[in-house]
Amino acid sequence: MGELALLGGEKVKTTPFGSGKRFGEEELRQLKEALEQNTLFYWAGNKVKEFTKKFASLYGVKHCVAVSSGTASLHVALGAIGITCGDEVITSPITDMGTVIGILYQNAIPVFADLDPYTYNLDPKSVEEKITGKTKAIIVVHLAGNAADMDTIMDIARRYNLKVIEDCAQSYMCYYKGRLAGTIGDIGCFSLNDFKHISVGDGGMLVMNDDKLYENALRFADKNYNRLAKDPMATRAIQYLAPNYRMNELMGAVAIAQLDKLESICKRRNVYGDGITKGITGLPGIHPHKVLEGCKSSYWFYMFRVDEDVLEVSRDEFSKALAAEGIPNSAGYIPICVYEYDIFTRKNAYPGTGCPFDCKYYGRDIEYYKGLCPTAEEILRTAVKITVNEFYTEQDLADVVAGIRKVSEYYYNRKNKR
Ligand SMILES: Cc1ncc(COP(=O)(O)O)c(C=O)c1O
Repeated sequence: MGELALLGGEKVKTTPFGSGKRFGEEELRQLKEALEQNTLFYWAGNKVKEFTKKFASLYGVKHCVAVSSGTASLHVALGAIGITCGDEVITSPITDMGTVIGILYQNAIPVFADLDPYTYNLDPKSVEEKITGKTKAIIVVHLAGNAADMDTIMDIARRYNLKVIEDCAQSYMCYYKGRLAGTIGDIGCFSLNDFKHISVGDGGMLVMNDDKLYENALRFADKNYNRLAKDPMATRAIQYLAPNYRMNELMGAVAIAQLDKLESICKRRNVYGDGITKGITGLPGIHPHKVLEGCKSSYWFYMFRVDEDVLEVSRDEFSKALAAEGIPNSAGYIPICVYEYDIFTRKNAYPGTGCPFDCKYYGRDIEYYKGLCPTAEEILRTAVKITVNEFYTEQDLADVVAGIRKVSEYYYNRKNKR
């Protein structure tokens, strides 16, 4: 084994990572057709309609509603299931802010449950412990393309009569025991922002089978206008507050073209991520990104954990050593758990008011503090995140594995020589 590049040795990675173009002629053709319709309004044109039809068909569900972002899709899902002031919604502390924004906009209360140490998804036991008389729903985040323990979570939801929203923003074509994540709970939510498996710049969608939830979601995404109403006067029979999160025809057009690429993108990412696991399983001091038995990840990213005691090295030094080998990585994912953000620790969602946490419709005390979800915090403290991309080659995969092996073996041997 060679000297670490960090200490002056030769780098593992000597060739550039594979890259490619995400958008091409197909998107241009779709955009041209959208413009030629002479309308960019989703209800008048055909692009958003075609996209939602195609996505629903790919996912084997009855309905799909397109919206302006993944954050919007989650807010719409909460609105559609009737989440309102003072309700509690249980979710994951390692996620994007977009998972919780809609909860706060509904003046509801995010409650954070702890995670499985190696899938980084909700630990059902912790979810059950967090349920109170106020709990109305669970937002299950399938992090990084990887399915959460849905059977157990759905069992809890049934026993406590809770709705389940699946946040699949990072998890297209992610399979839980043969079923697509997003089709197991009441509503599945997706993001089309520019960093996701497929992109329209910004956008999102929801999938569901229930007709009433579909109608609610359509309305909630569009100012509560009832576009399905036969009588045009009934369209504006507004009963309660809802935002405007409409997708427009240009986004719909690009989405159609992107959707045609989705399955091959996810397939490639699955092979690449599983390849990393295969290459690093059994290395002392390294915990691969765990995928539950019978499930299939589309790896939005790959994140392994370093056992600092076994290797006698800090995660940060491990990350630097790996970067020096030419393997880009980040020490952890988000810097701290979502509940450690000021908005929660200072209860500052609506500045200067304490809302919604001290709302009379809530009537309970909730505190957010470091230590709330110890496993989630430990994950962020010891994880190393590796980028996955459908354009990466077999050589890239071999180099990433070789880099992780070299660095972990170096520290393991150094410890055992002492
Ligand atoms: C897990 C998760 N949920 C929600 C979102 C929000 O999606 P968007 O950025 O499209 O609003 C993201 C985006 O990063 C995400 O990763």
